[in-house]
Amino acid sequence: MPVRLIYCSRALREMSLQDIQNILRTARANNERLGICGMLSYQSSWFLQVLEGPRSEVNELFLDIADDPRHDAVTIIAYEYVDEALFSDWRMGYAADGGAVAQLLHEFGLERFEPLAMSPLQALRFLRELSSAQDLAA
Ligand SMILES: Cc1cc2nc3c(=O)[nH]c(=O)nc-3n(C[C@H](O)[C@H](O)[C@H](O)COP(=O)(O)O)c2cc1C
Repeated sequence: MPVRLIYCSRALREMSLQDIQNILRTARANNERLGICGMLSYQSSWFLQVLEGPRSEVNELFLDIADDPRHDAVTIIAYEYVDEALFSDWRMGYAADGGAVAQLLHEFGLERFEPLAMSPLQALRFLRELSSAQDLAA
């Protein structure tokens, strides 16, 4: 049964593009093997990530990610059983800051990227919008 898990966390130090690329390289290789897809966003020291795939694989990967010393304050925003994946184009897509982001945050009534203040639906919508305005540079 496929699930979708959305969580946010706080980077323990400012992440460079290189740091993000390292995470993505590992993520893309592992997720391919595990049948997991998703999207990662990083801005102003916060990560927001969605993982979709088979329940046991997503749960186990999440426990590994939550243990990762690069971040803390790992907080699950949404966990649900889904009929189909929304992010299947991406083993792990990535999007940094961009025009679409500011507009969405404004709509959500947020002054900055603050995933803890987002509802589950807002977090999902945010990640979906980013996936359609995908930053292919990373
Ligand atoms: C914000 C963040 C997101 C991550 N996302 C993934 C992911 O989607 N898939 C993955 O395999 N590892 C991800 N990682 C890395 C894992 O925490 C862990 O380092 C990795 O699974 C270890 O893989 P390895 O045993 O192949 O080195 C992420 C790490 C961070 C900090």
